[in-house]
Amino acid sequence: MKTSPTIFRRLTILAGAAHAAAAIAGPAAAQDVAAGNTAFAQCAACHSVDDTNGVGPSLKGVVGRQAGTFPGFRFSRAMKGFNKPWDEKILDAYLTNPQAAVPGNIMPFSGVTDAKERADIIAYLKTLK
Ligand code: HEC
Repeated sequence: MKTSPTIFRRLTILAGAAHAAAAIAGPAAAQDVAAGNTAFAQCAACHSVDDTNGVGPSLKGVVGRQAGTFPGFRFSRAMKGFNKPWDEKILDAYLTNPQAAVPGNIMPFSGVTDAKERADIIAYLKTLK
């Protein structure tokens, strides 16, 4: 049987599209999360990513979570009063300069100066569900 040229052309286009999509969504995105996971080492001394609290609250599910509400952690009054859900923009501001973003909060951490590193960390935080 002969494959019709039309079908062959369609398959070629589909294969090309799949390849292009993989190139965009695949390695680049994975690398950011991986870099974020590595950079998270500086947070891990205080923050778990499971249900346990340490010096800081667990960061499991932190993206989209209301600030200062993780069960079982004694948040500062400043953090409880912040009264906003953590989205990417607010997290970026907080990780740039914690005291400027949430004045009076008690996280003993001066911030991450590198914007790409913050973006990678946030990409990693988004995977913690
Ligand atoms: C030395 C300990 C320490 C380090 C290091 C640290 N944190 Fe924290 N973090 C805390 C504490 C303590 C709080 C609670 C602050 C409060 O209640 O005012 C906190 C709060 C937070 C919150 C708010 C959580 C919530 O549920 O509202 C986020 C988000 C956060 N930290 C992210 C990070 C990230 C990301 C890093 C690494 C880049 C980091 N922290 C490094 C101790 C730390």
